[in-house]
Amino acid sequence: MRTQVAIIGGGPSGLLLGQLLHRRGIDAVVLERKTRDYVLGRVRAGVLEAGLVGLMEEAGVADRLHREGYVHDGTQIACAGEMFHIDFRALTGKPVIVYGQTEVTRDLYDAREAVDARTEFEVDHVAIHDADTERPHVTYDQHGATHRLDCDFVAGCDGFHGISRQTIPLGIRREYEKTSPFGWLGILSRTPPVYDELIYANSDRGFALCSMRNENLSRYYVQCALSDHPEDWTDTAFWQELKRRIPPEAAARLVTGPSIEKSIAPLRSFVSEPMRWGRLFLCGDAAHIVPPTGAKGLNTAASDVHYLHRGLTQFYEDGDPEGIDRYSERALLRVWKAERFSWWFSSLMHRYPDQSPFDLKMQQADIAFLRDNAAQQQAFAENYVGLPY
Ligand code: PHB
Repeated sequence: MRTQVAIIGGGPSGLLLGQLLHRRGIDAVVLERKTRDYVLGRVRAGVLEAGLVGLMEEAGVADRLHREGYVHDGTQIACAGEMFHIDFRALTGKPVIVYGQTEVTRDLYDAREAVDARTEFEVDHVAIHDADTERPHVTYDQHGATHRLDCDFVAGCDGFHGISRQTIPLGIRREYEKTSPFGWLGILSRTPPVYDELIYANSDRGFALCSMRNENLSRYYVQCALSDHPEDWTDTAFWQELKRRIPPEAAARLVTGPSIEKSIAPLRSFVSEPMRWGRLFLCGDAAHIVPPTGAKGLNTAASDVHYLHRGLTQFYEDGDPEGIDRYSERALLRVWKAERFSWWFSSLMHRYPDQSPFDLKMQQADIAFLRDNAAQQQAFAENYVGLPY
């Protein structure tokens, strides 16, 4: 079998890339280890930057997100029982859209099926060959048979644990990592959101976040120990802890109910350089991870997809390799800025085990500066709504 671009991974980055290429008449095959239902069962963040919304529009898959997504013109930051507002629209002219990553993925699968684009599910033992030549190919097993896919390029969109990054020789790869000594315990519940904007709360008991999916579906998180297990947290214990961490006016309005999903996510910053090796290009979590504070994971994957799809289009339409040659450099420049914002916002909002009284004062002063200083709010808003591509 032959295609122009072999896309490893049927998560949102691989699917978005596939759809954008399809619109330009470039053929791609998506290889996914799991089933569609498995991919759609993963709960992820739900804040879309304008840049990602623009890519969804360009891919022709933005109708439902415009219909059902929620436009948020700002966010709330809480500290020591008080909250203040950061007005994205006033500061940057742009809002963000609250719409679950799962829904983005569903829309992309539906679009892919509507145009009969090829997706192979439940593939195993995927291996990328000759990526450093002009004729790469991919092999994989599926339902007991081994297949070979010849291609011009390989897009590695297979996430942090995928094989794409590992295909780049160790002598070429450089990895940078920082892990936090705590996690986020998150729940989804069929209850109305506590507030009409997201609330990021710094409290003496640790961080909390009030987020949402729609009028009757809320997503809440509390900072927890990495050794905790979701099953150790009863719903009652979760709600009680959340209430103690958010301002009293919000706690008083919080509607609680049974959780329909409960999981613990680690907080990790990770970048692997370069993002290109020969004809293999890494996109999204395959090359970088951000801690969830600020919801930059999917949005940063989207900026990679933007640079890669532009580069591939330039190559196929104009015979110009400039965009693919500079892919890694362009993508990484923006990735590192998103890493910086996510790291800084995380360090602003969490309790750290080794935090000294001085460190705590610095954190409080940093939050007060954000509350009181227009330039700092401007910088926050520009990062939150998404830096330009
Ligand atoms: C979420 O809704 O899951 C969410 C929102 C904002 C974040 C992280 C997660 O910063």
